[in-house]
Amino acid sequence: MGTQAAPATSEIAAVGVIGAGQMGSGIAQLAAAAGCGVFLVDSDPAALSRAVASISSSLGRLVSKGQLSQAACDDSVKRIKCVSDVQELRGVDLVIEAIVESEDIKKKLFVELDRITKPSAILASNTSSISITRLASATGRPSQVIGMHFFNPPPIMKLVEIIRGADTSEEVFSQVKSFSERIGKTVICSQDYPGFIVNRILMPMINEAFWALYTGVATKEDIDTGMKLGTNHPMGPLQLADFIGLDVCLSVLRVLHNGLGDNKYSPCPLLVQYVDAGRLGKKRGLGVYSYG
Ligand code: CAA
Repeated sequence: MGTQAAPATSEIAAVGVIGAGQMGSGIAQLAAAAGCGVFLVDSDPAALSRAVASISSSLGRLVSKGQLSQAACDDSVKRIKCVSDVQELRGVDLVIEAIVESEDIKKKLFVELDRITKPSAILASNTSSISITRLASATGRPSQVIGMHFFNPPPIMKLVEIIRGADTSEEVFSQVKSFSERIGKTVICSQDYPGFIVNRILMPMINEAFWALYTGVATKEDIDTGMKLGTNHPMGPLQLADFIGLDVCLSVLRVLHNGLGDNKYSPCPLLVQYVDAGRLGKKRGLGVYSYG
């Protein structure tokens, strides 16, 4: 028998997105704008309301810039069904989870998704650093589990980093690549090693910026201005750390440190102290900087 052709990307018609935070709502927006029916799942009704408001405002910006018609904006919003229960994902072709960055919690979710969703469904994780192979091993369909790592804010950032687990099939990889391109993203492909490509390189830079601040090399403003104007980054590393969340940065650095076993990834004590003090960045109104 010849090699089976990968199914056309149009087969991904219905998408489930789990977690209605910044990442989940942005991903739901992208899928809906590309014409997919979307179930956005969150057990917290307030998070779902915030997600709908943020999606409407994000699409509204495109309307006001003349990049989207009001009708297309309204249709996209209508294509998103907010639900509180993952059981609703029975019929979807692709699930993308964007829940809390905890391996135990994600594994439990994958076990449940494996039980609920149809056998052909692809299960993707937006994890920024947890092993896809380990998440896949919690399911009976490891060849259909894959990493789809989006960047914040998902509607603006042009990249999706696709991570192949040890058993991810070529067919699933090519379906997810086509889907990512259909929602307007450029794809890069990473093997399943700690931090994948982007965080493996980004987080040591952010950590180094904390060391520079901690050891008194310069003020936070000068460190950020240095990297903004000296290397043309849109945000300095400390401002970016606040934007990402200092807790997220710390957790990714710990994954790098534990997984790669090199002290160069050891988190700076100042970053650890900020997180211990609840200074988690922009989302809490206080991180390296304070926010209005
Ligand atoms: N939806 C739609 N449009 C949006 C938007 C959203 N959520 N957020 C911003 N925009 C649009 C604005 O309308 C504006 O459009 P125009 O230029 O056409 O007017 C444009 O994006 C720029 O926005 P702003 O003027 O409000 O602000 P800015 O110029 O400071 O840009 C930013 C904001 C895009 C976030 C920019 O600062 C940036 O690119 N920062 C770096 C972000 C980054 O590195 N993200 C990745 C973090 S790492 C990660 O996410 C992965 C991980 O695992 C940790």
